[in-house]
Amino acid sequence: MTDNPYLTHRKLRERDLGSSKSNPTEKQPLNGFLPRKVTGPQVRTALEYDTNPFTKQPYSKQYKTLLEARKKLPIYAQMDEFLKMFSEHQIIVIIGETGSGKTTQIPQLVAYSDLPHIKGKVVACTQPEHVAAMSVAKRVADELDVQLGRQVGYSIRFEDMTELGTTFLNYLTDDMLLREAMNDPTLERYSTIILDEVHQRTLATDILMSLLKNIARKRPDLKIIVMAATLNALKFQKYFNLRSDVKVPLFKVPRSTHPIEVFYTQEPEFDYVEAAIRTVLMIHRAEDQGDILLFLTGEEEIENACRKIKLEADDLLNQNPDSIGPLVCIPFYSSLPPQQQQRIFDSAPGPRTPNGPTGRKVVVSTNIAENSLTINGIVYVVDPGVSEQKVYNPRIRVESLLVSPISRASAQQRASHAGRTRSGKCFRLYTEKDFKNELEEGTFPEILRSNLSSTVLQLVKLGIKDLVRFDYIDVPAPEALMRALELLNYLAALDDDGNLTALGAIMAEFPLDPQLAKMLIVSPEFKCSNEMLTITAMMSVPNVWLRPNNQRREADAAKALLTVPDGDHLTLLNVYNQYVQNQYDKNWTWQHYLSQHALQQADNIRTQLKSIMERFDIDLISLSDEKKLYQNIRQALVCGFFMQVAHKEGDKGNYLTVKDNQVVALHPSCGLGTQPEWVIFNEFVLTTCPYILTVSEVHPEWLIEFSGNYFDLSSFPNGETKRALQRVVNKKAGKMGRNDGGANKQSSKKRN
Ligand code: CDP
Ligand code: MG
Repeated sequence: MTDNPYLTHRKLRERDLGSSKSNPTEKQPLNGFLPRKVTGPQVRTALEYDTNPFTKQPYSKQYKTLLEARKKLPIYAQMDEFLKMFSEHQIIVIIGETGSGKTTQIPQLVAYSDLPHIKGKVVACTQPEHVAAMSVAKRVADELDVQLGRQVGYSIRFEDMTELGTTFLNYLTDDMLLREAMNDPTLERYSTIILDEVHQRTLATDILMSLLKNIARKRPDLKIIVMAATLNALKFQKYFNLRSDVKVPLFKVPRSTHPIEVFYTQEPEFDYVEAAIRTVLMIHRAEDQGDILLFLTGEEEIENACRKIKLEADDLLNQNPDSIGPLVCIPFYSSLPPQQQQRIFDSAPGPRTPNGPTGRKVVVSTNIAENSLTINGIVYVVDPGVSEQKVYNPRIRVESLLVSPISRASAQQRASHAGRTRSGKCFRLYTEKDFKNELEEGTFPEILRSNLSSTVLQLVKLGIKDLVRFDYIDVPAPEALMRALELLNYLAALDDDGNLTALGAIMAEFPLDPQLAKMLIVSPEFKCSNEMLTITAMMSVPNVWLRPNNQRREADAAKALLTVPDGDHLTLLNVYNQYVQNQYDKNWTWQHYLSQHALQQADNIRTQLKSIMERFDIDLISLSDEKKLYQNIRQALVCGFFMQVAHKEGDKGNYLTVKDNQVVALHPSCGLGTQPEWVIFNEFVLTTCPYILTVSEVHPEWLIEFSGNYFDLSSFPNGETKRALQRVVNKKAGKMGRNDGGANKQSSKKRN
């Protein structure tokens, strides 16, 4: 690393930019560009040039069309100002409303100034949502007239769409960059790192802010840009002040929206889904042309709402063909296959008859549309005021998704989508009084409401010793940190002094929760690593089962055929194996009501995890005896998920989670043939009552044998669970008394 990053660049410039010395007749689009001293007029000239400086090819027609659209973005007019600020500062904070051009334009301007393709560096732009990373990378590749995956790419968990040495602009999810920092603590290959959507305050973005602040001190050549959509920029500016004499400047993109009229309900709504459907239909009947964006919380709710809206709208159309146009309803959530996600950019349907009224598009979306995506043509926004949010309760160690009220900042964000094309309307399905008095000001940072075990493992791997005094932008609750340290210690990822163990170092390399990583790494000892690999991959994708509303019975019958009564994990294994045996056949998945997209994803994830296992010499083995294999698989599960065990209480079919004493029930989707006394589970959901999901039967002896530390009875709360475990211990002691030597053999398998 040199103190003057420009020295080497100048030499490179002469070689690669085609300076007049080397080729006097040839004009080059980047002629005269001095790295990080590039000006607005220079960039504008290059944009209008005939040749693409990055591919050396003539520009396409599409390039010109997109360029005209880019010129209309508010940020385009501020190009000179931005490039000047970028030249003069190491760290910049940018704020501007959604749709102003931050995510698509700023990284391109940085690339023109940094010239990473010449320096052999990369400009990174992080996104909290993988959907946003993919869709923005595609858009920017089009705008730069290059192929996606070559000069411009994206990296999300389990999918790397970049080319080493060619990609100079990478849109990647925040957790991917964090992962990279574990092996390259100064993120050497990047010239500039842009953290986007920081106001969303995801866990990974928060940690990245702390790391980058630290790296910036060690690497004066690294530039950092922090972008947010809300006005609370001061907090970020203050946080990034490395020295008291240099202030982090703020770059403001002016408002680009047209006026928006906001309506509230008179009374609180008790059923927000019904109210939302009613409002969409009201707009369709009574309001002028223009598309609608409705925010709901999750996949099932969205699909149901789409179906109901469509039914009613078709009815309306048949009754009033002269006054009401056709309507298309487009669902949008992150587990939707990419081709279907792309549908939100389709135009609204035309009129049904030549002179009839024109059609309307309704996008029904989760919170993803709030921040990271801009859908053109939206004039009406329907905002029920809720979203699905992750909530962690460290006392009972449970992280769950809960439908919770959004913040006032979120409500403003949602409304702003209505004013992008022309003046619009936002219908809030709550009272003005609630907006003012009940909603929180801003989004509650994820670091304050998450299970921190993955993060703590990464921080320890990064060499951060004092987790409590680490420079967080918001300090997490000590209890959440303690819980994470405790879990990692039980998993043997950290020793009793909090140091990383050899096992922990490998665990951190897997893009998985520590529990999943642990069970995968120990699985060769149980001779079932091929199977655990499959199960882990299947658990890393959204639900593979389809259950269309009008074919629920058929779907359930198809599922029953593939179900293994000993546990849902074995069912997942069976589904994958049958999918492979049937040659990945679309018809087979269709007939069995399985999601082809989810299974394909699982297959891809399996390949990626397999290569990590091979890198660490973790053997891939299987047992041929199926009965023994099925038992060993569940034993390996215990090695990772011993903290997620429940014991049956009484005859009502209720379960009590071990140690934390939460009353839970088996979810209706669970395929267990009986109600076993002990179960291990992977998910916990709170709907009408607390349910456990993805459940398998386990034997209490395994709990004591493979996770003895956690199941140490002297530290156990009194109760039926403890008594049941005590009986197992006593029985075992009795057996051992009769049969010397057994203890040694068994303890060799013990992992904790
Ligand atoms: O980041 P910010 O919300 O400020 O704006 P952006 O994502 O850069 O979007 C700027 C404009 O690019 C939008 O108004 C859309 O017209 C267009 N865009 C698009 O057409 N497709 C995308 N996937 C992303 C952006
Ligand atoms: Mg953006």
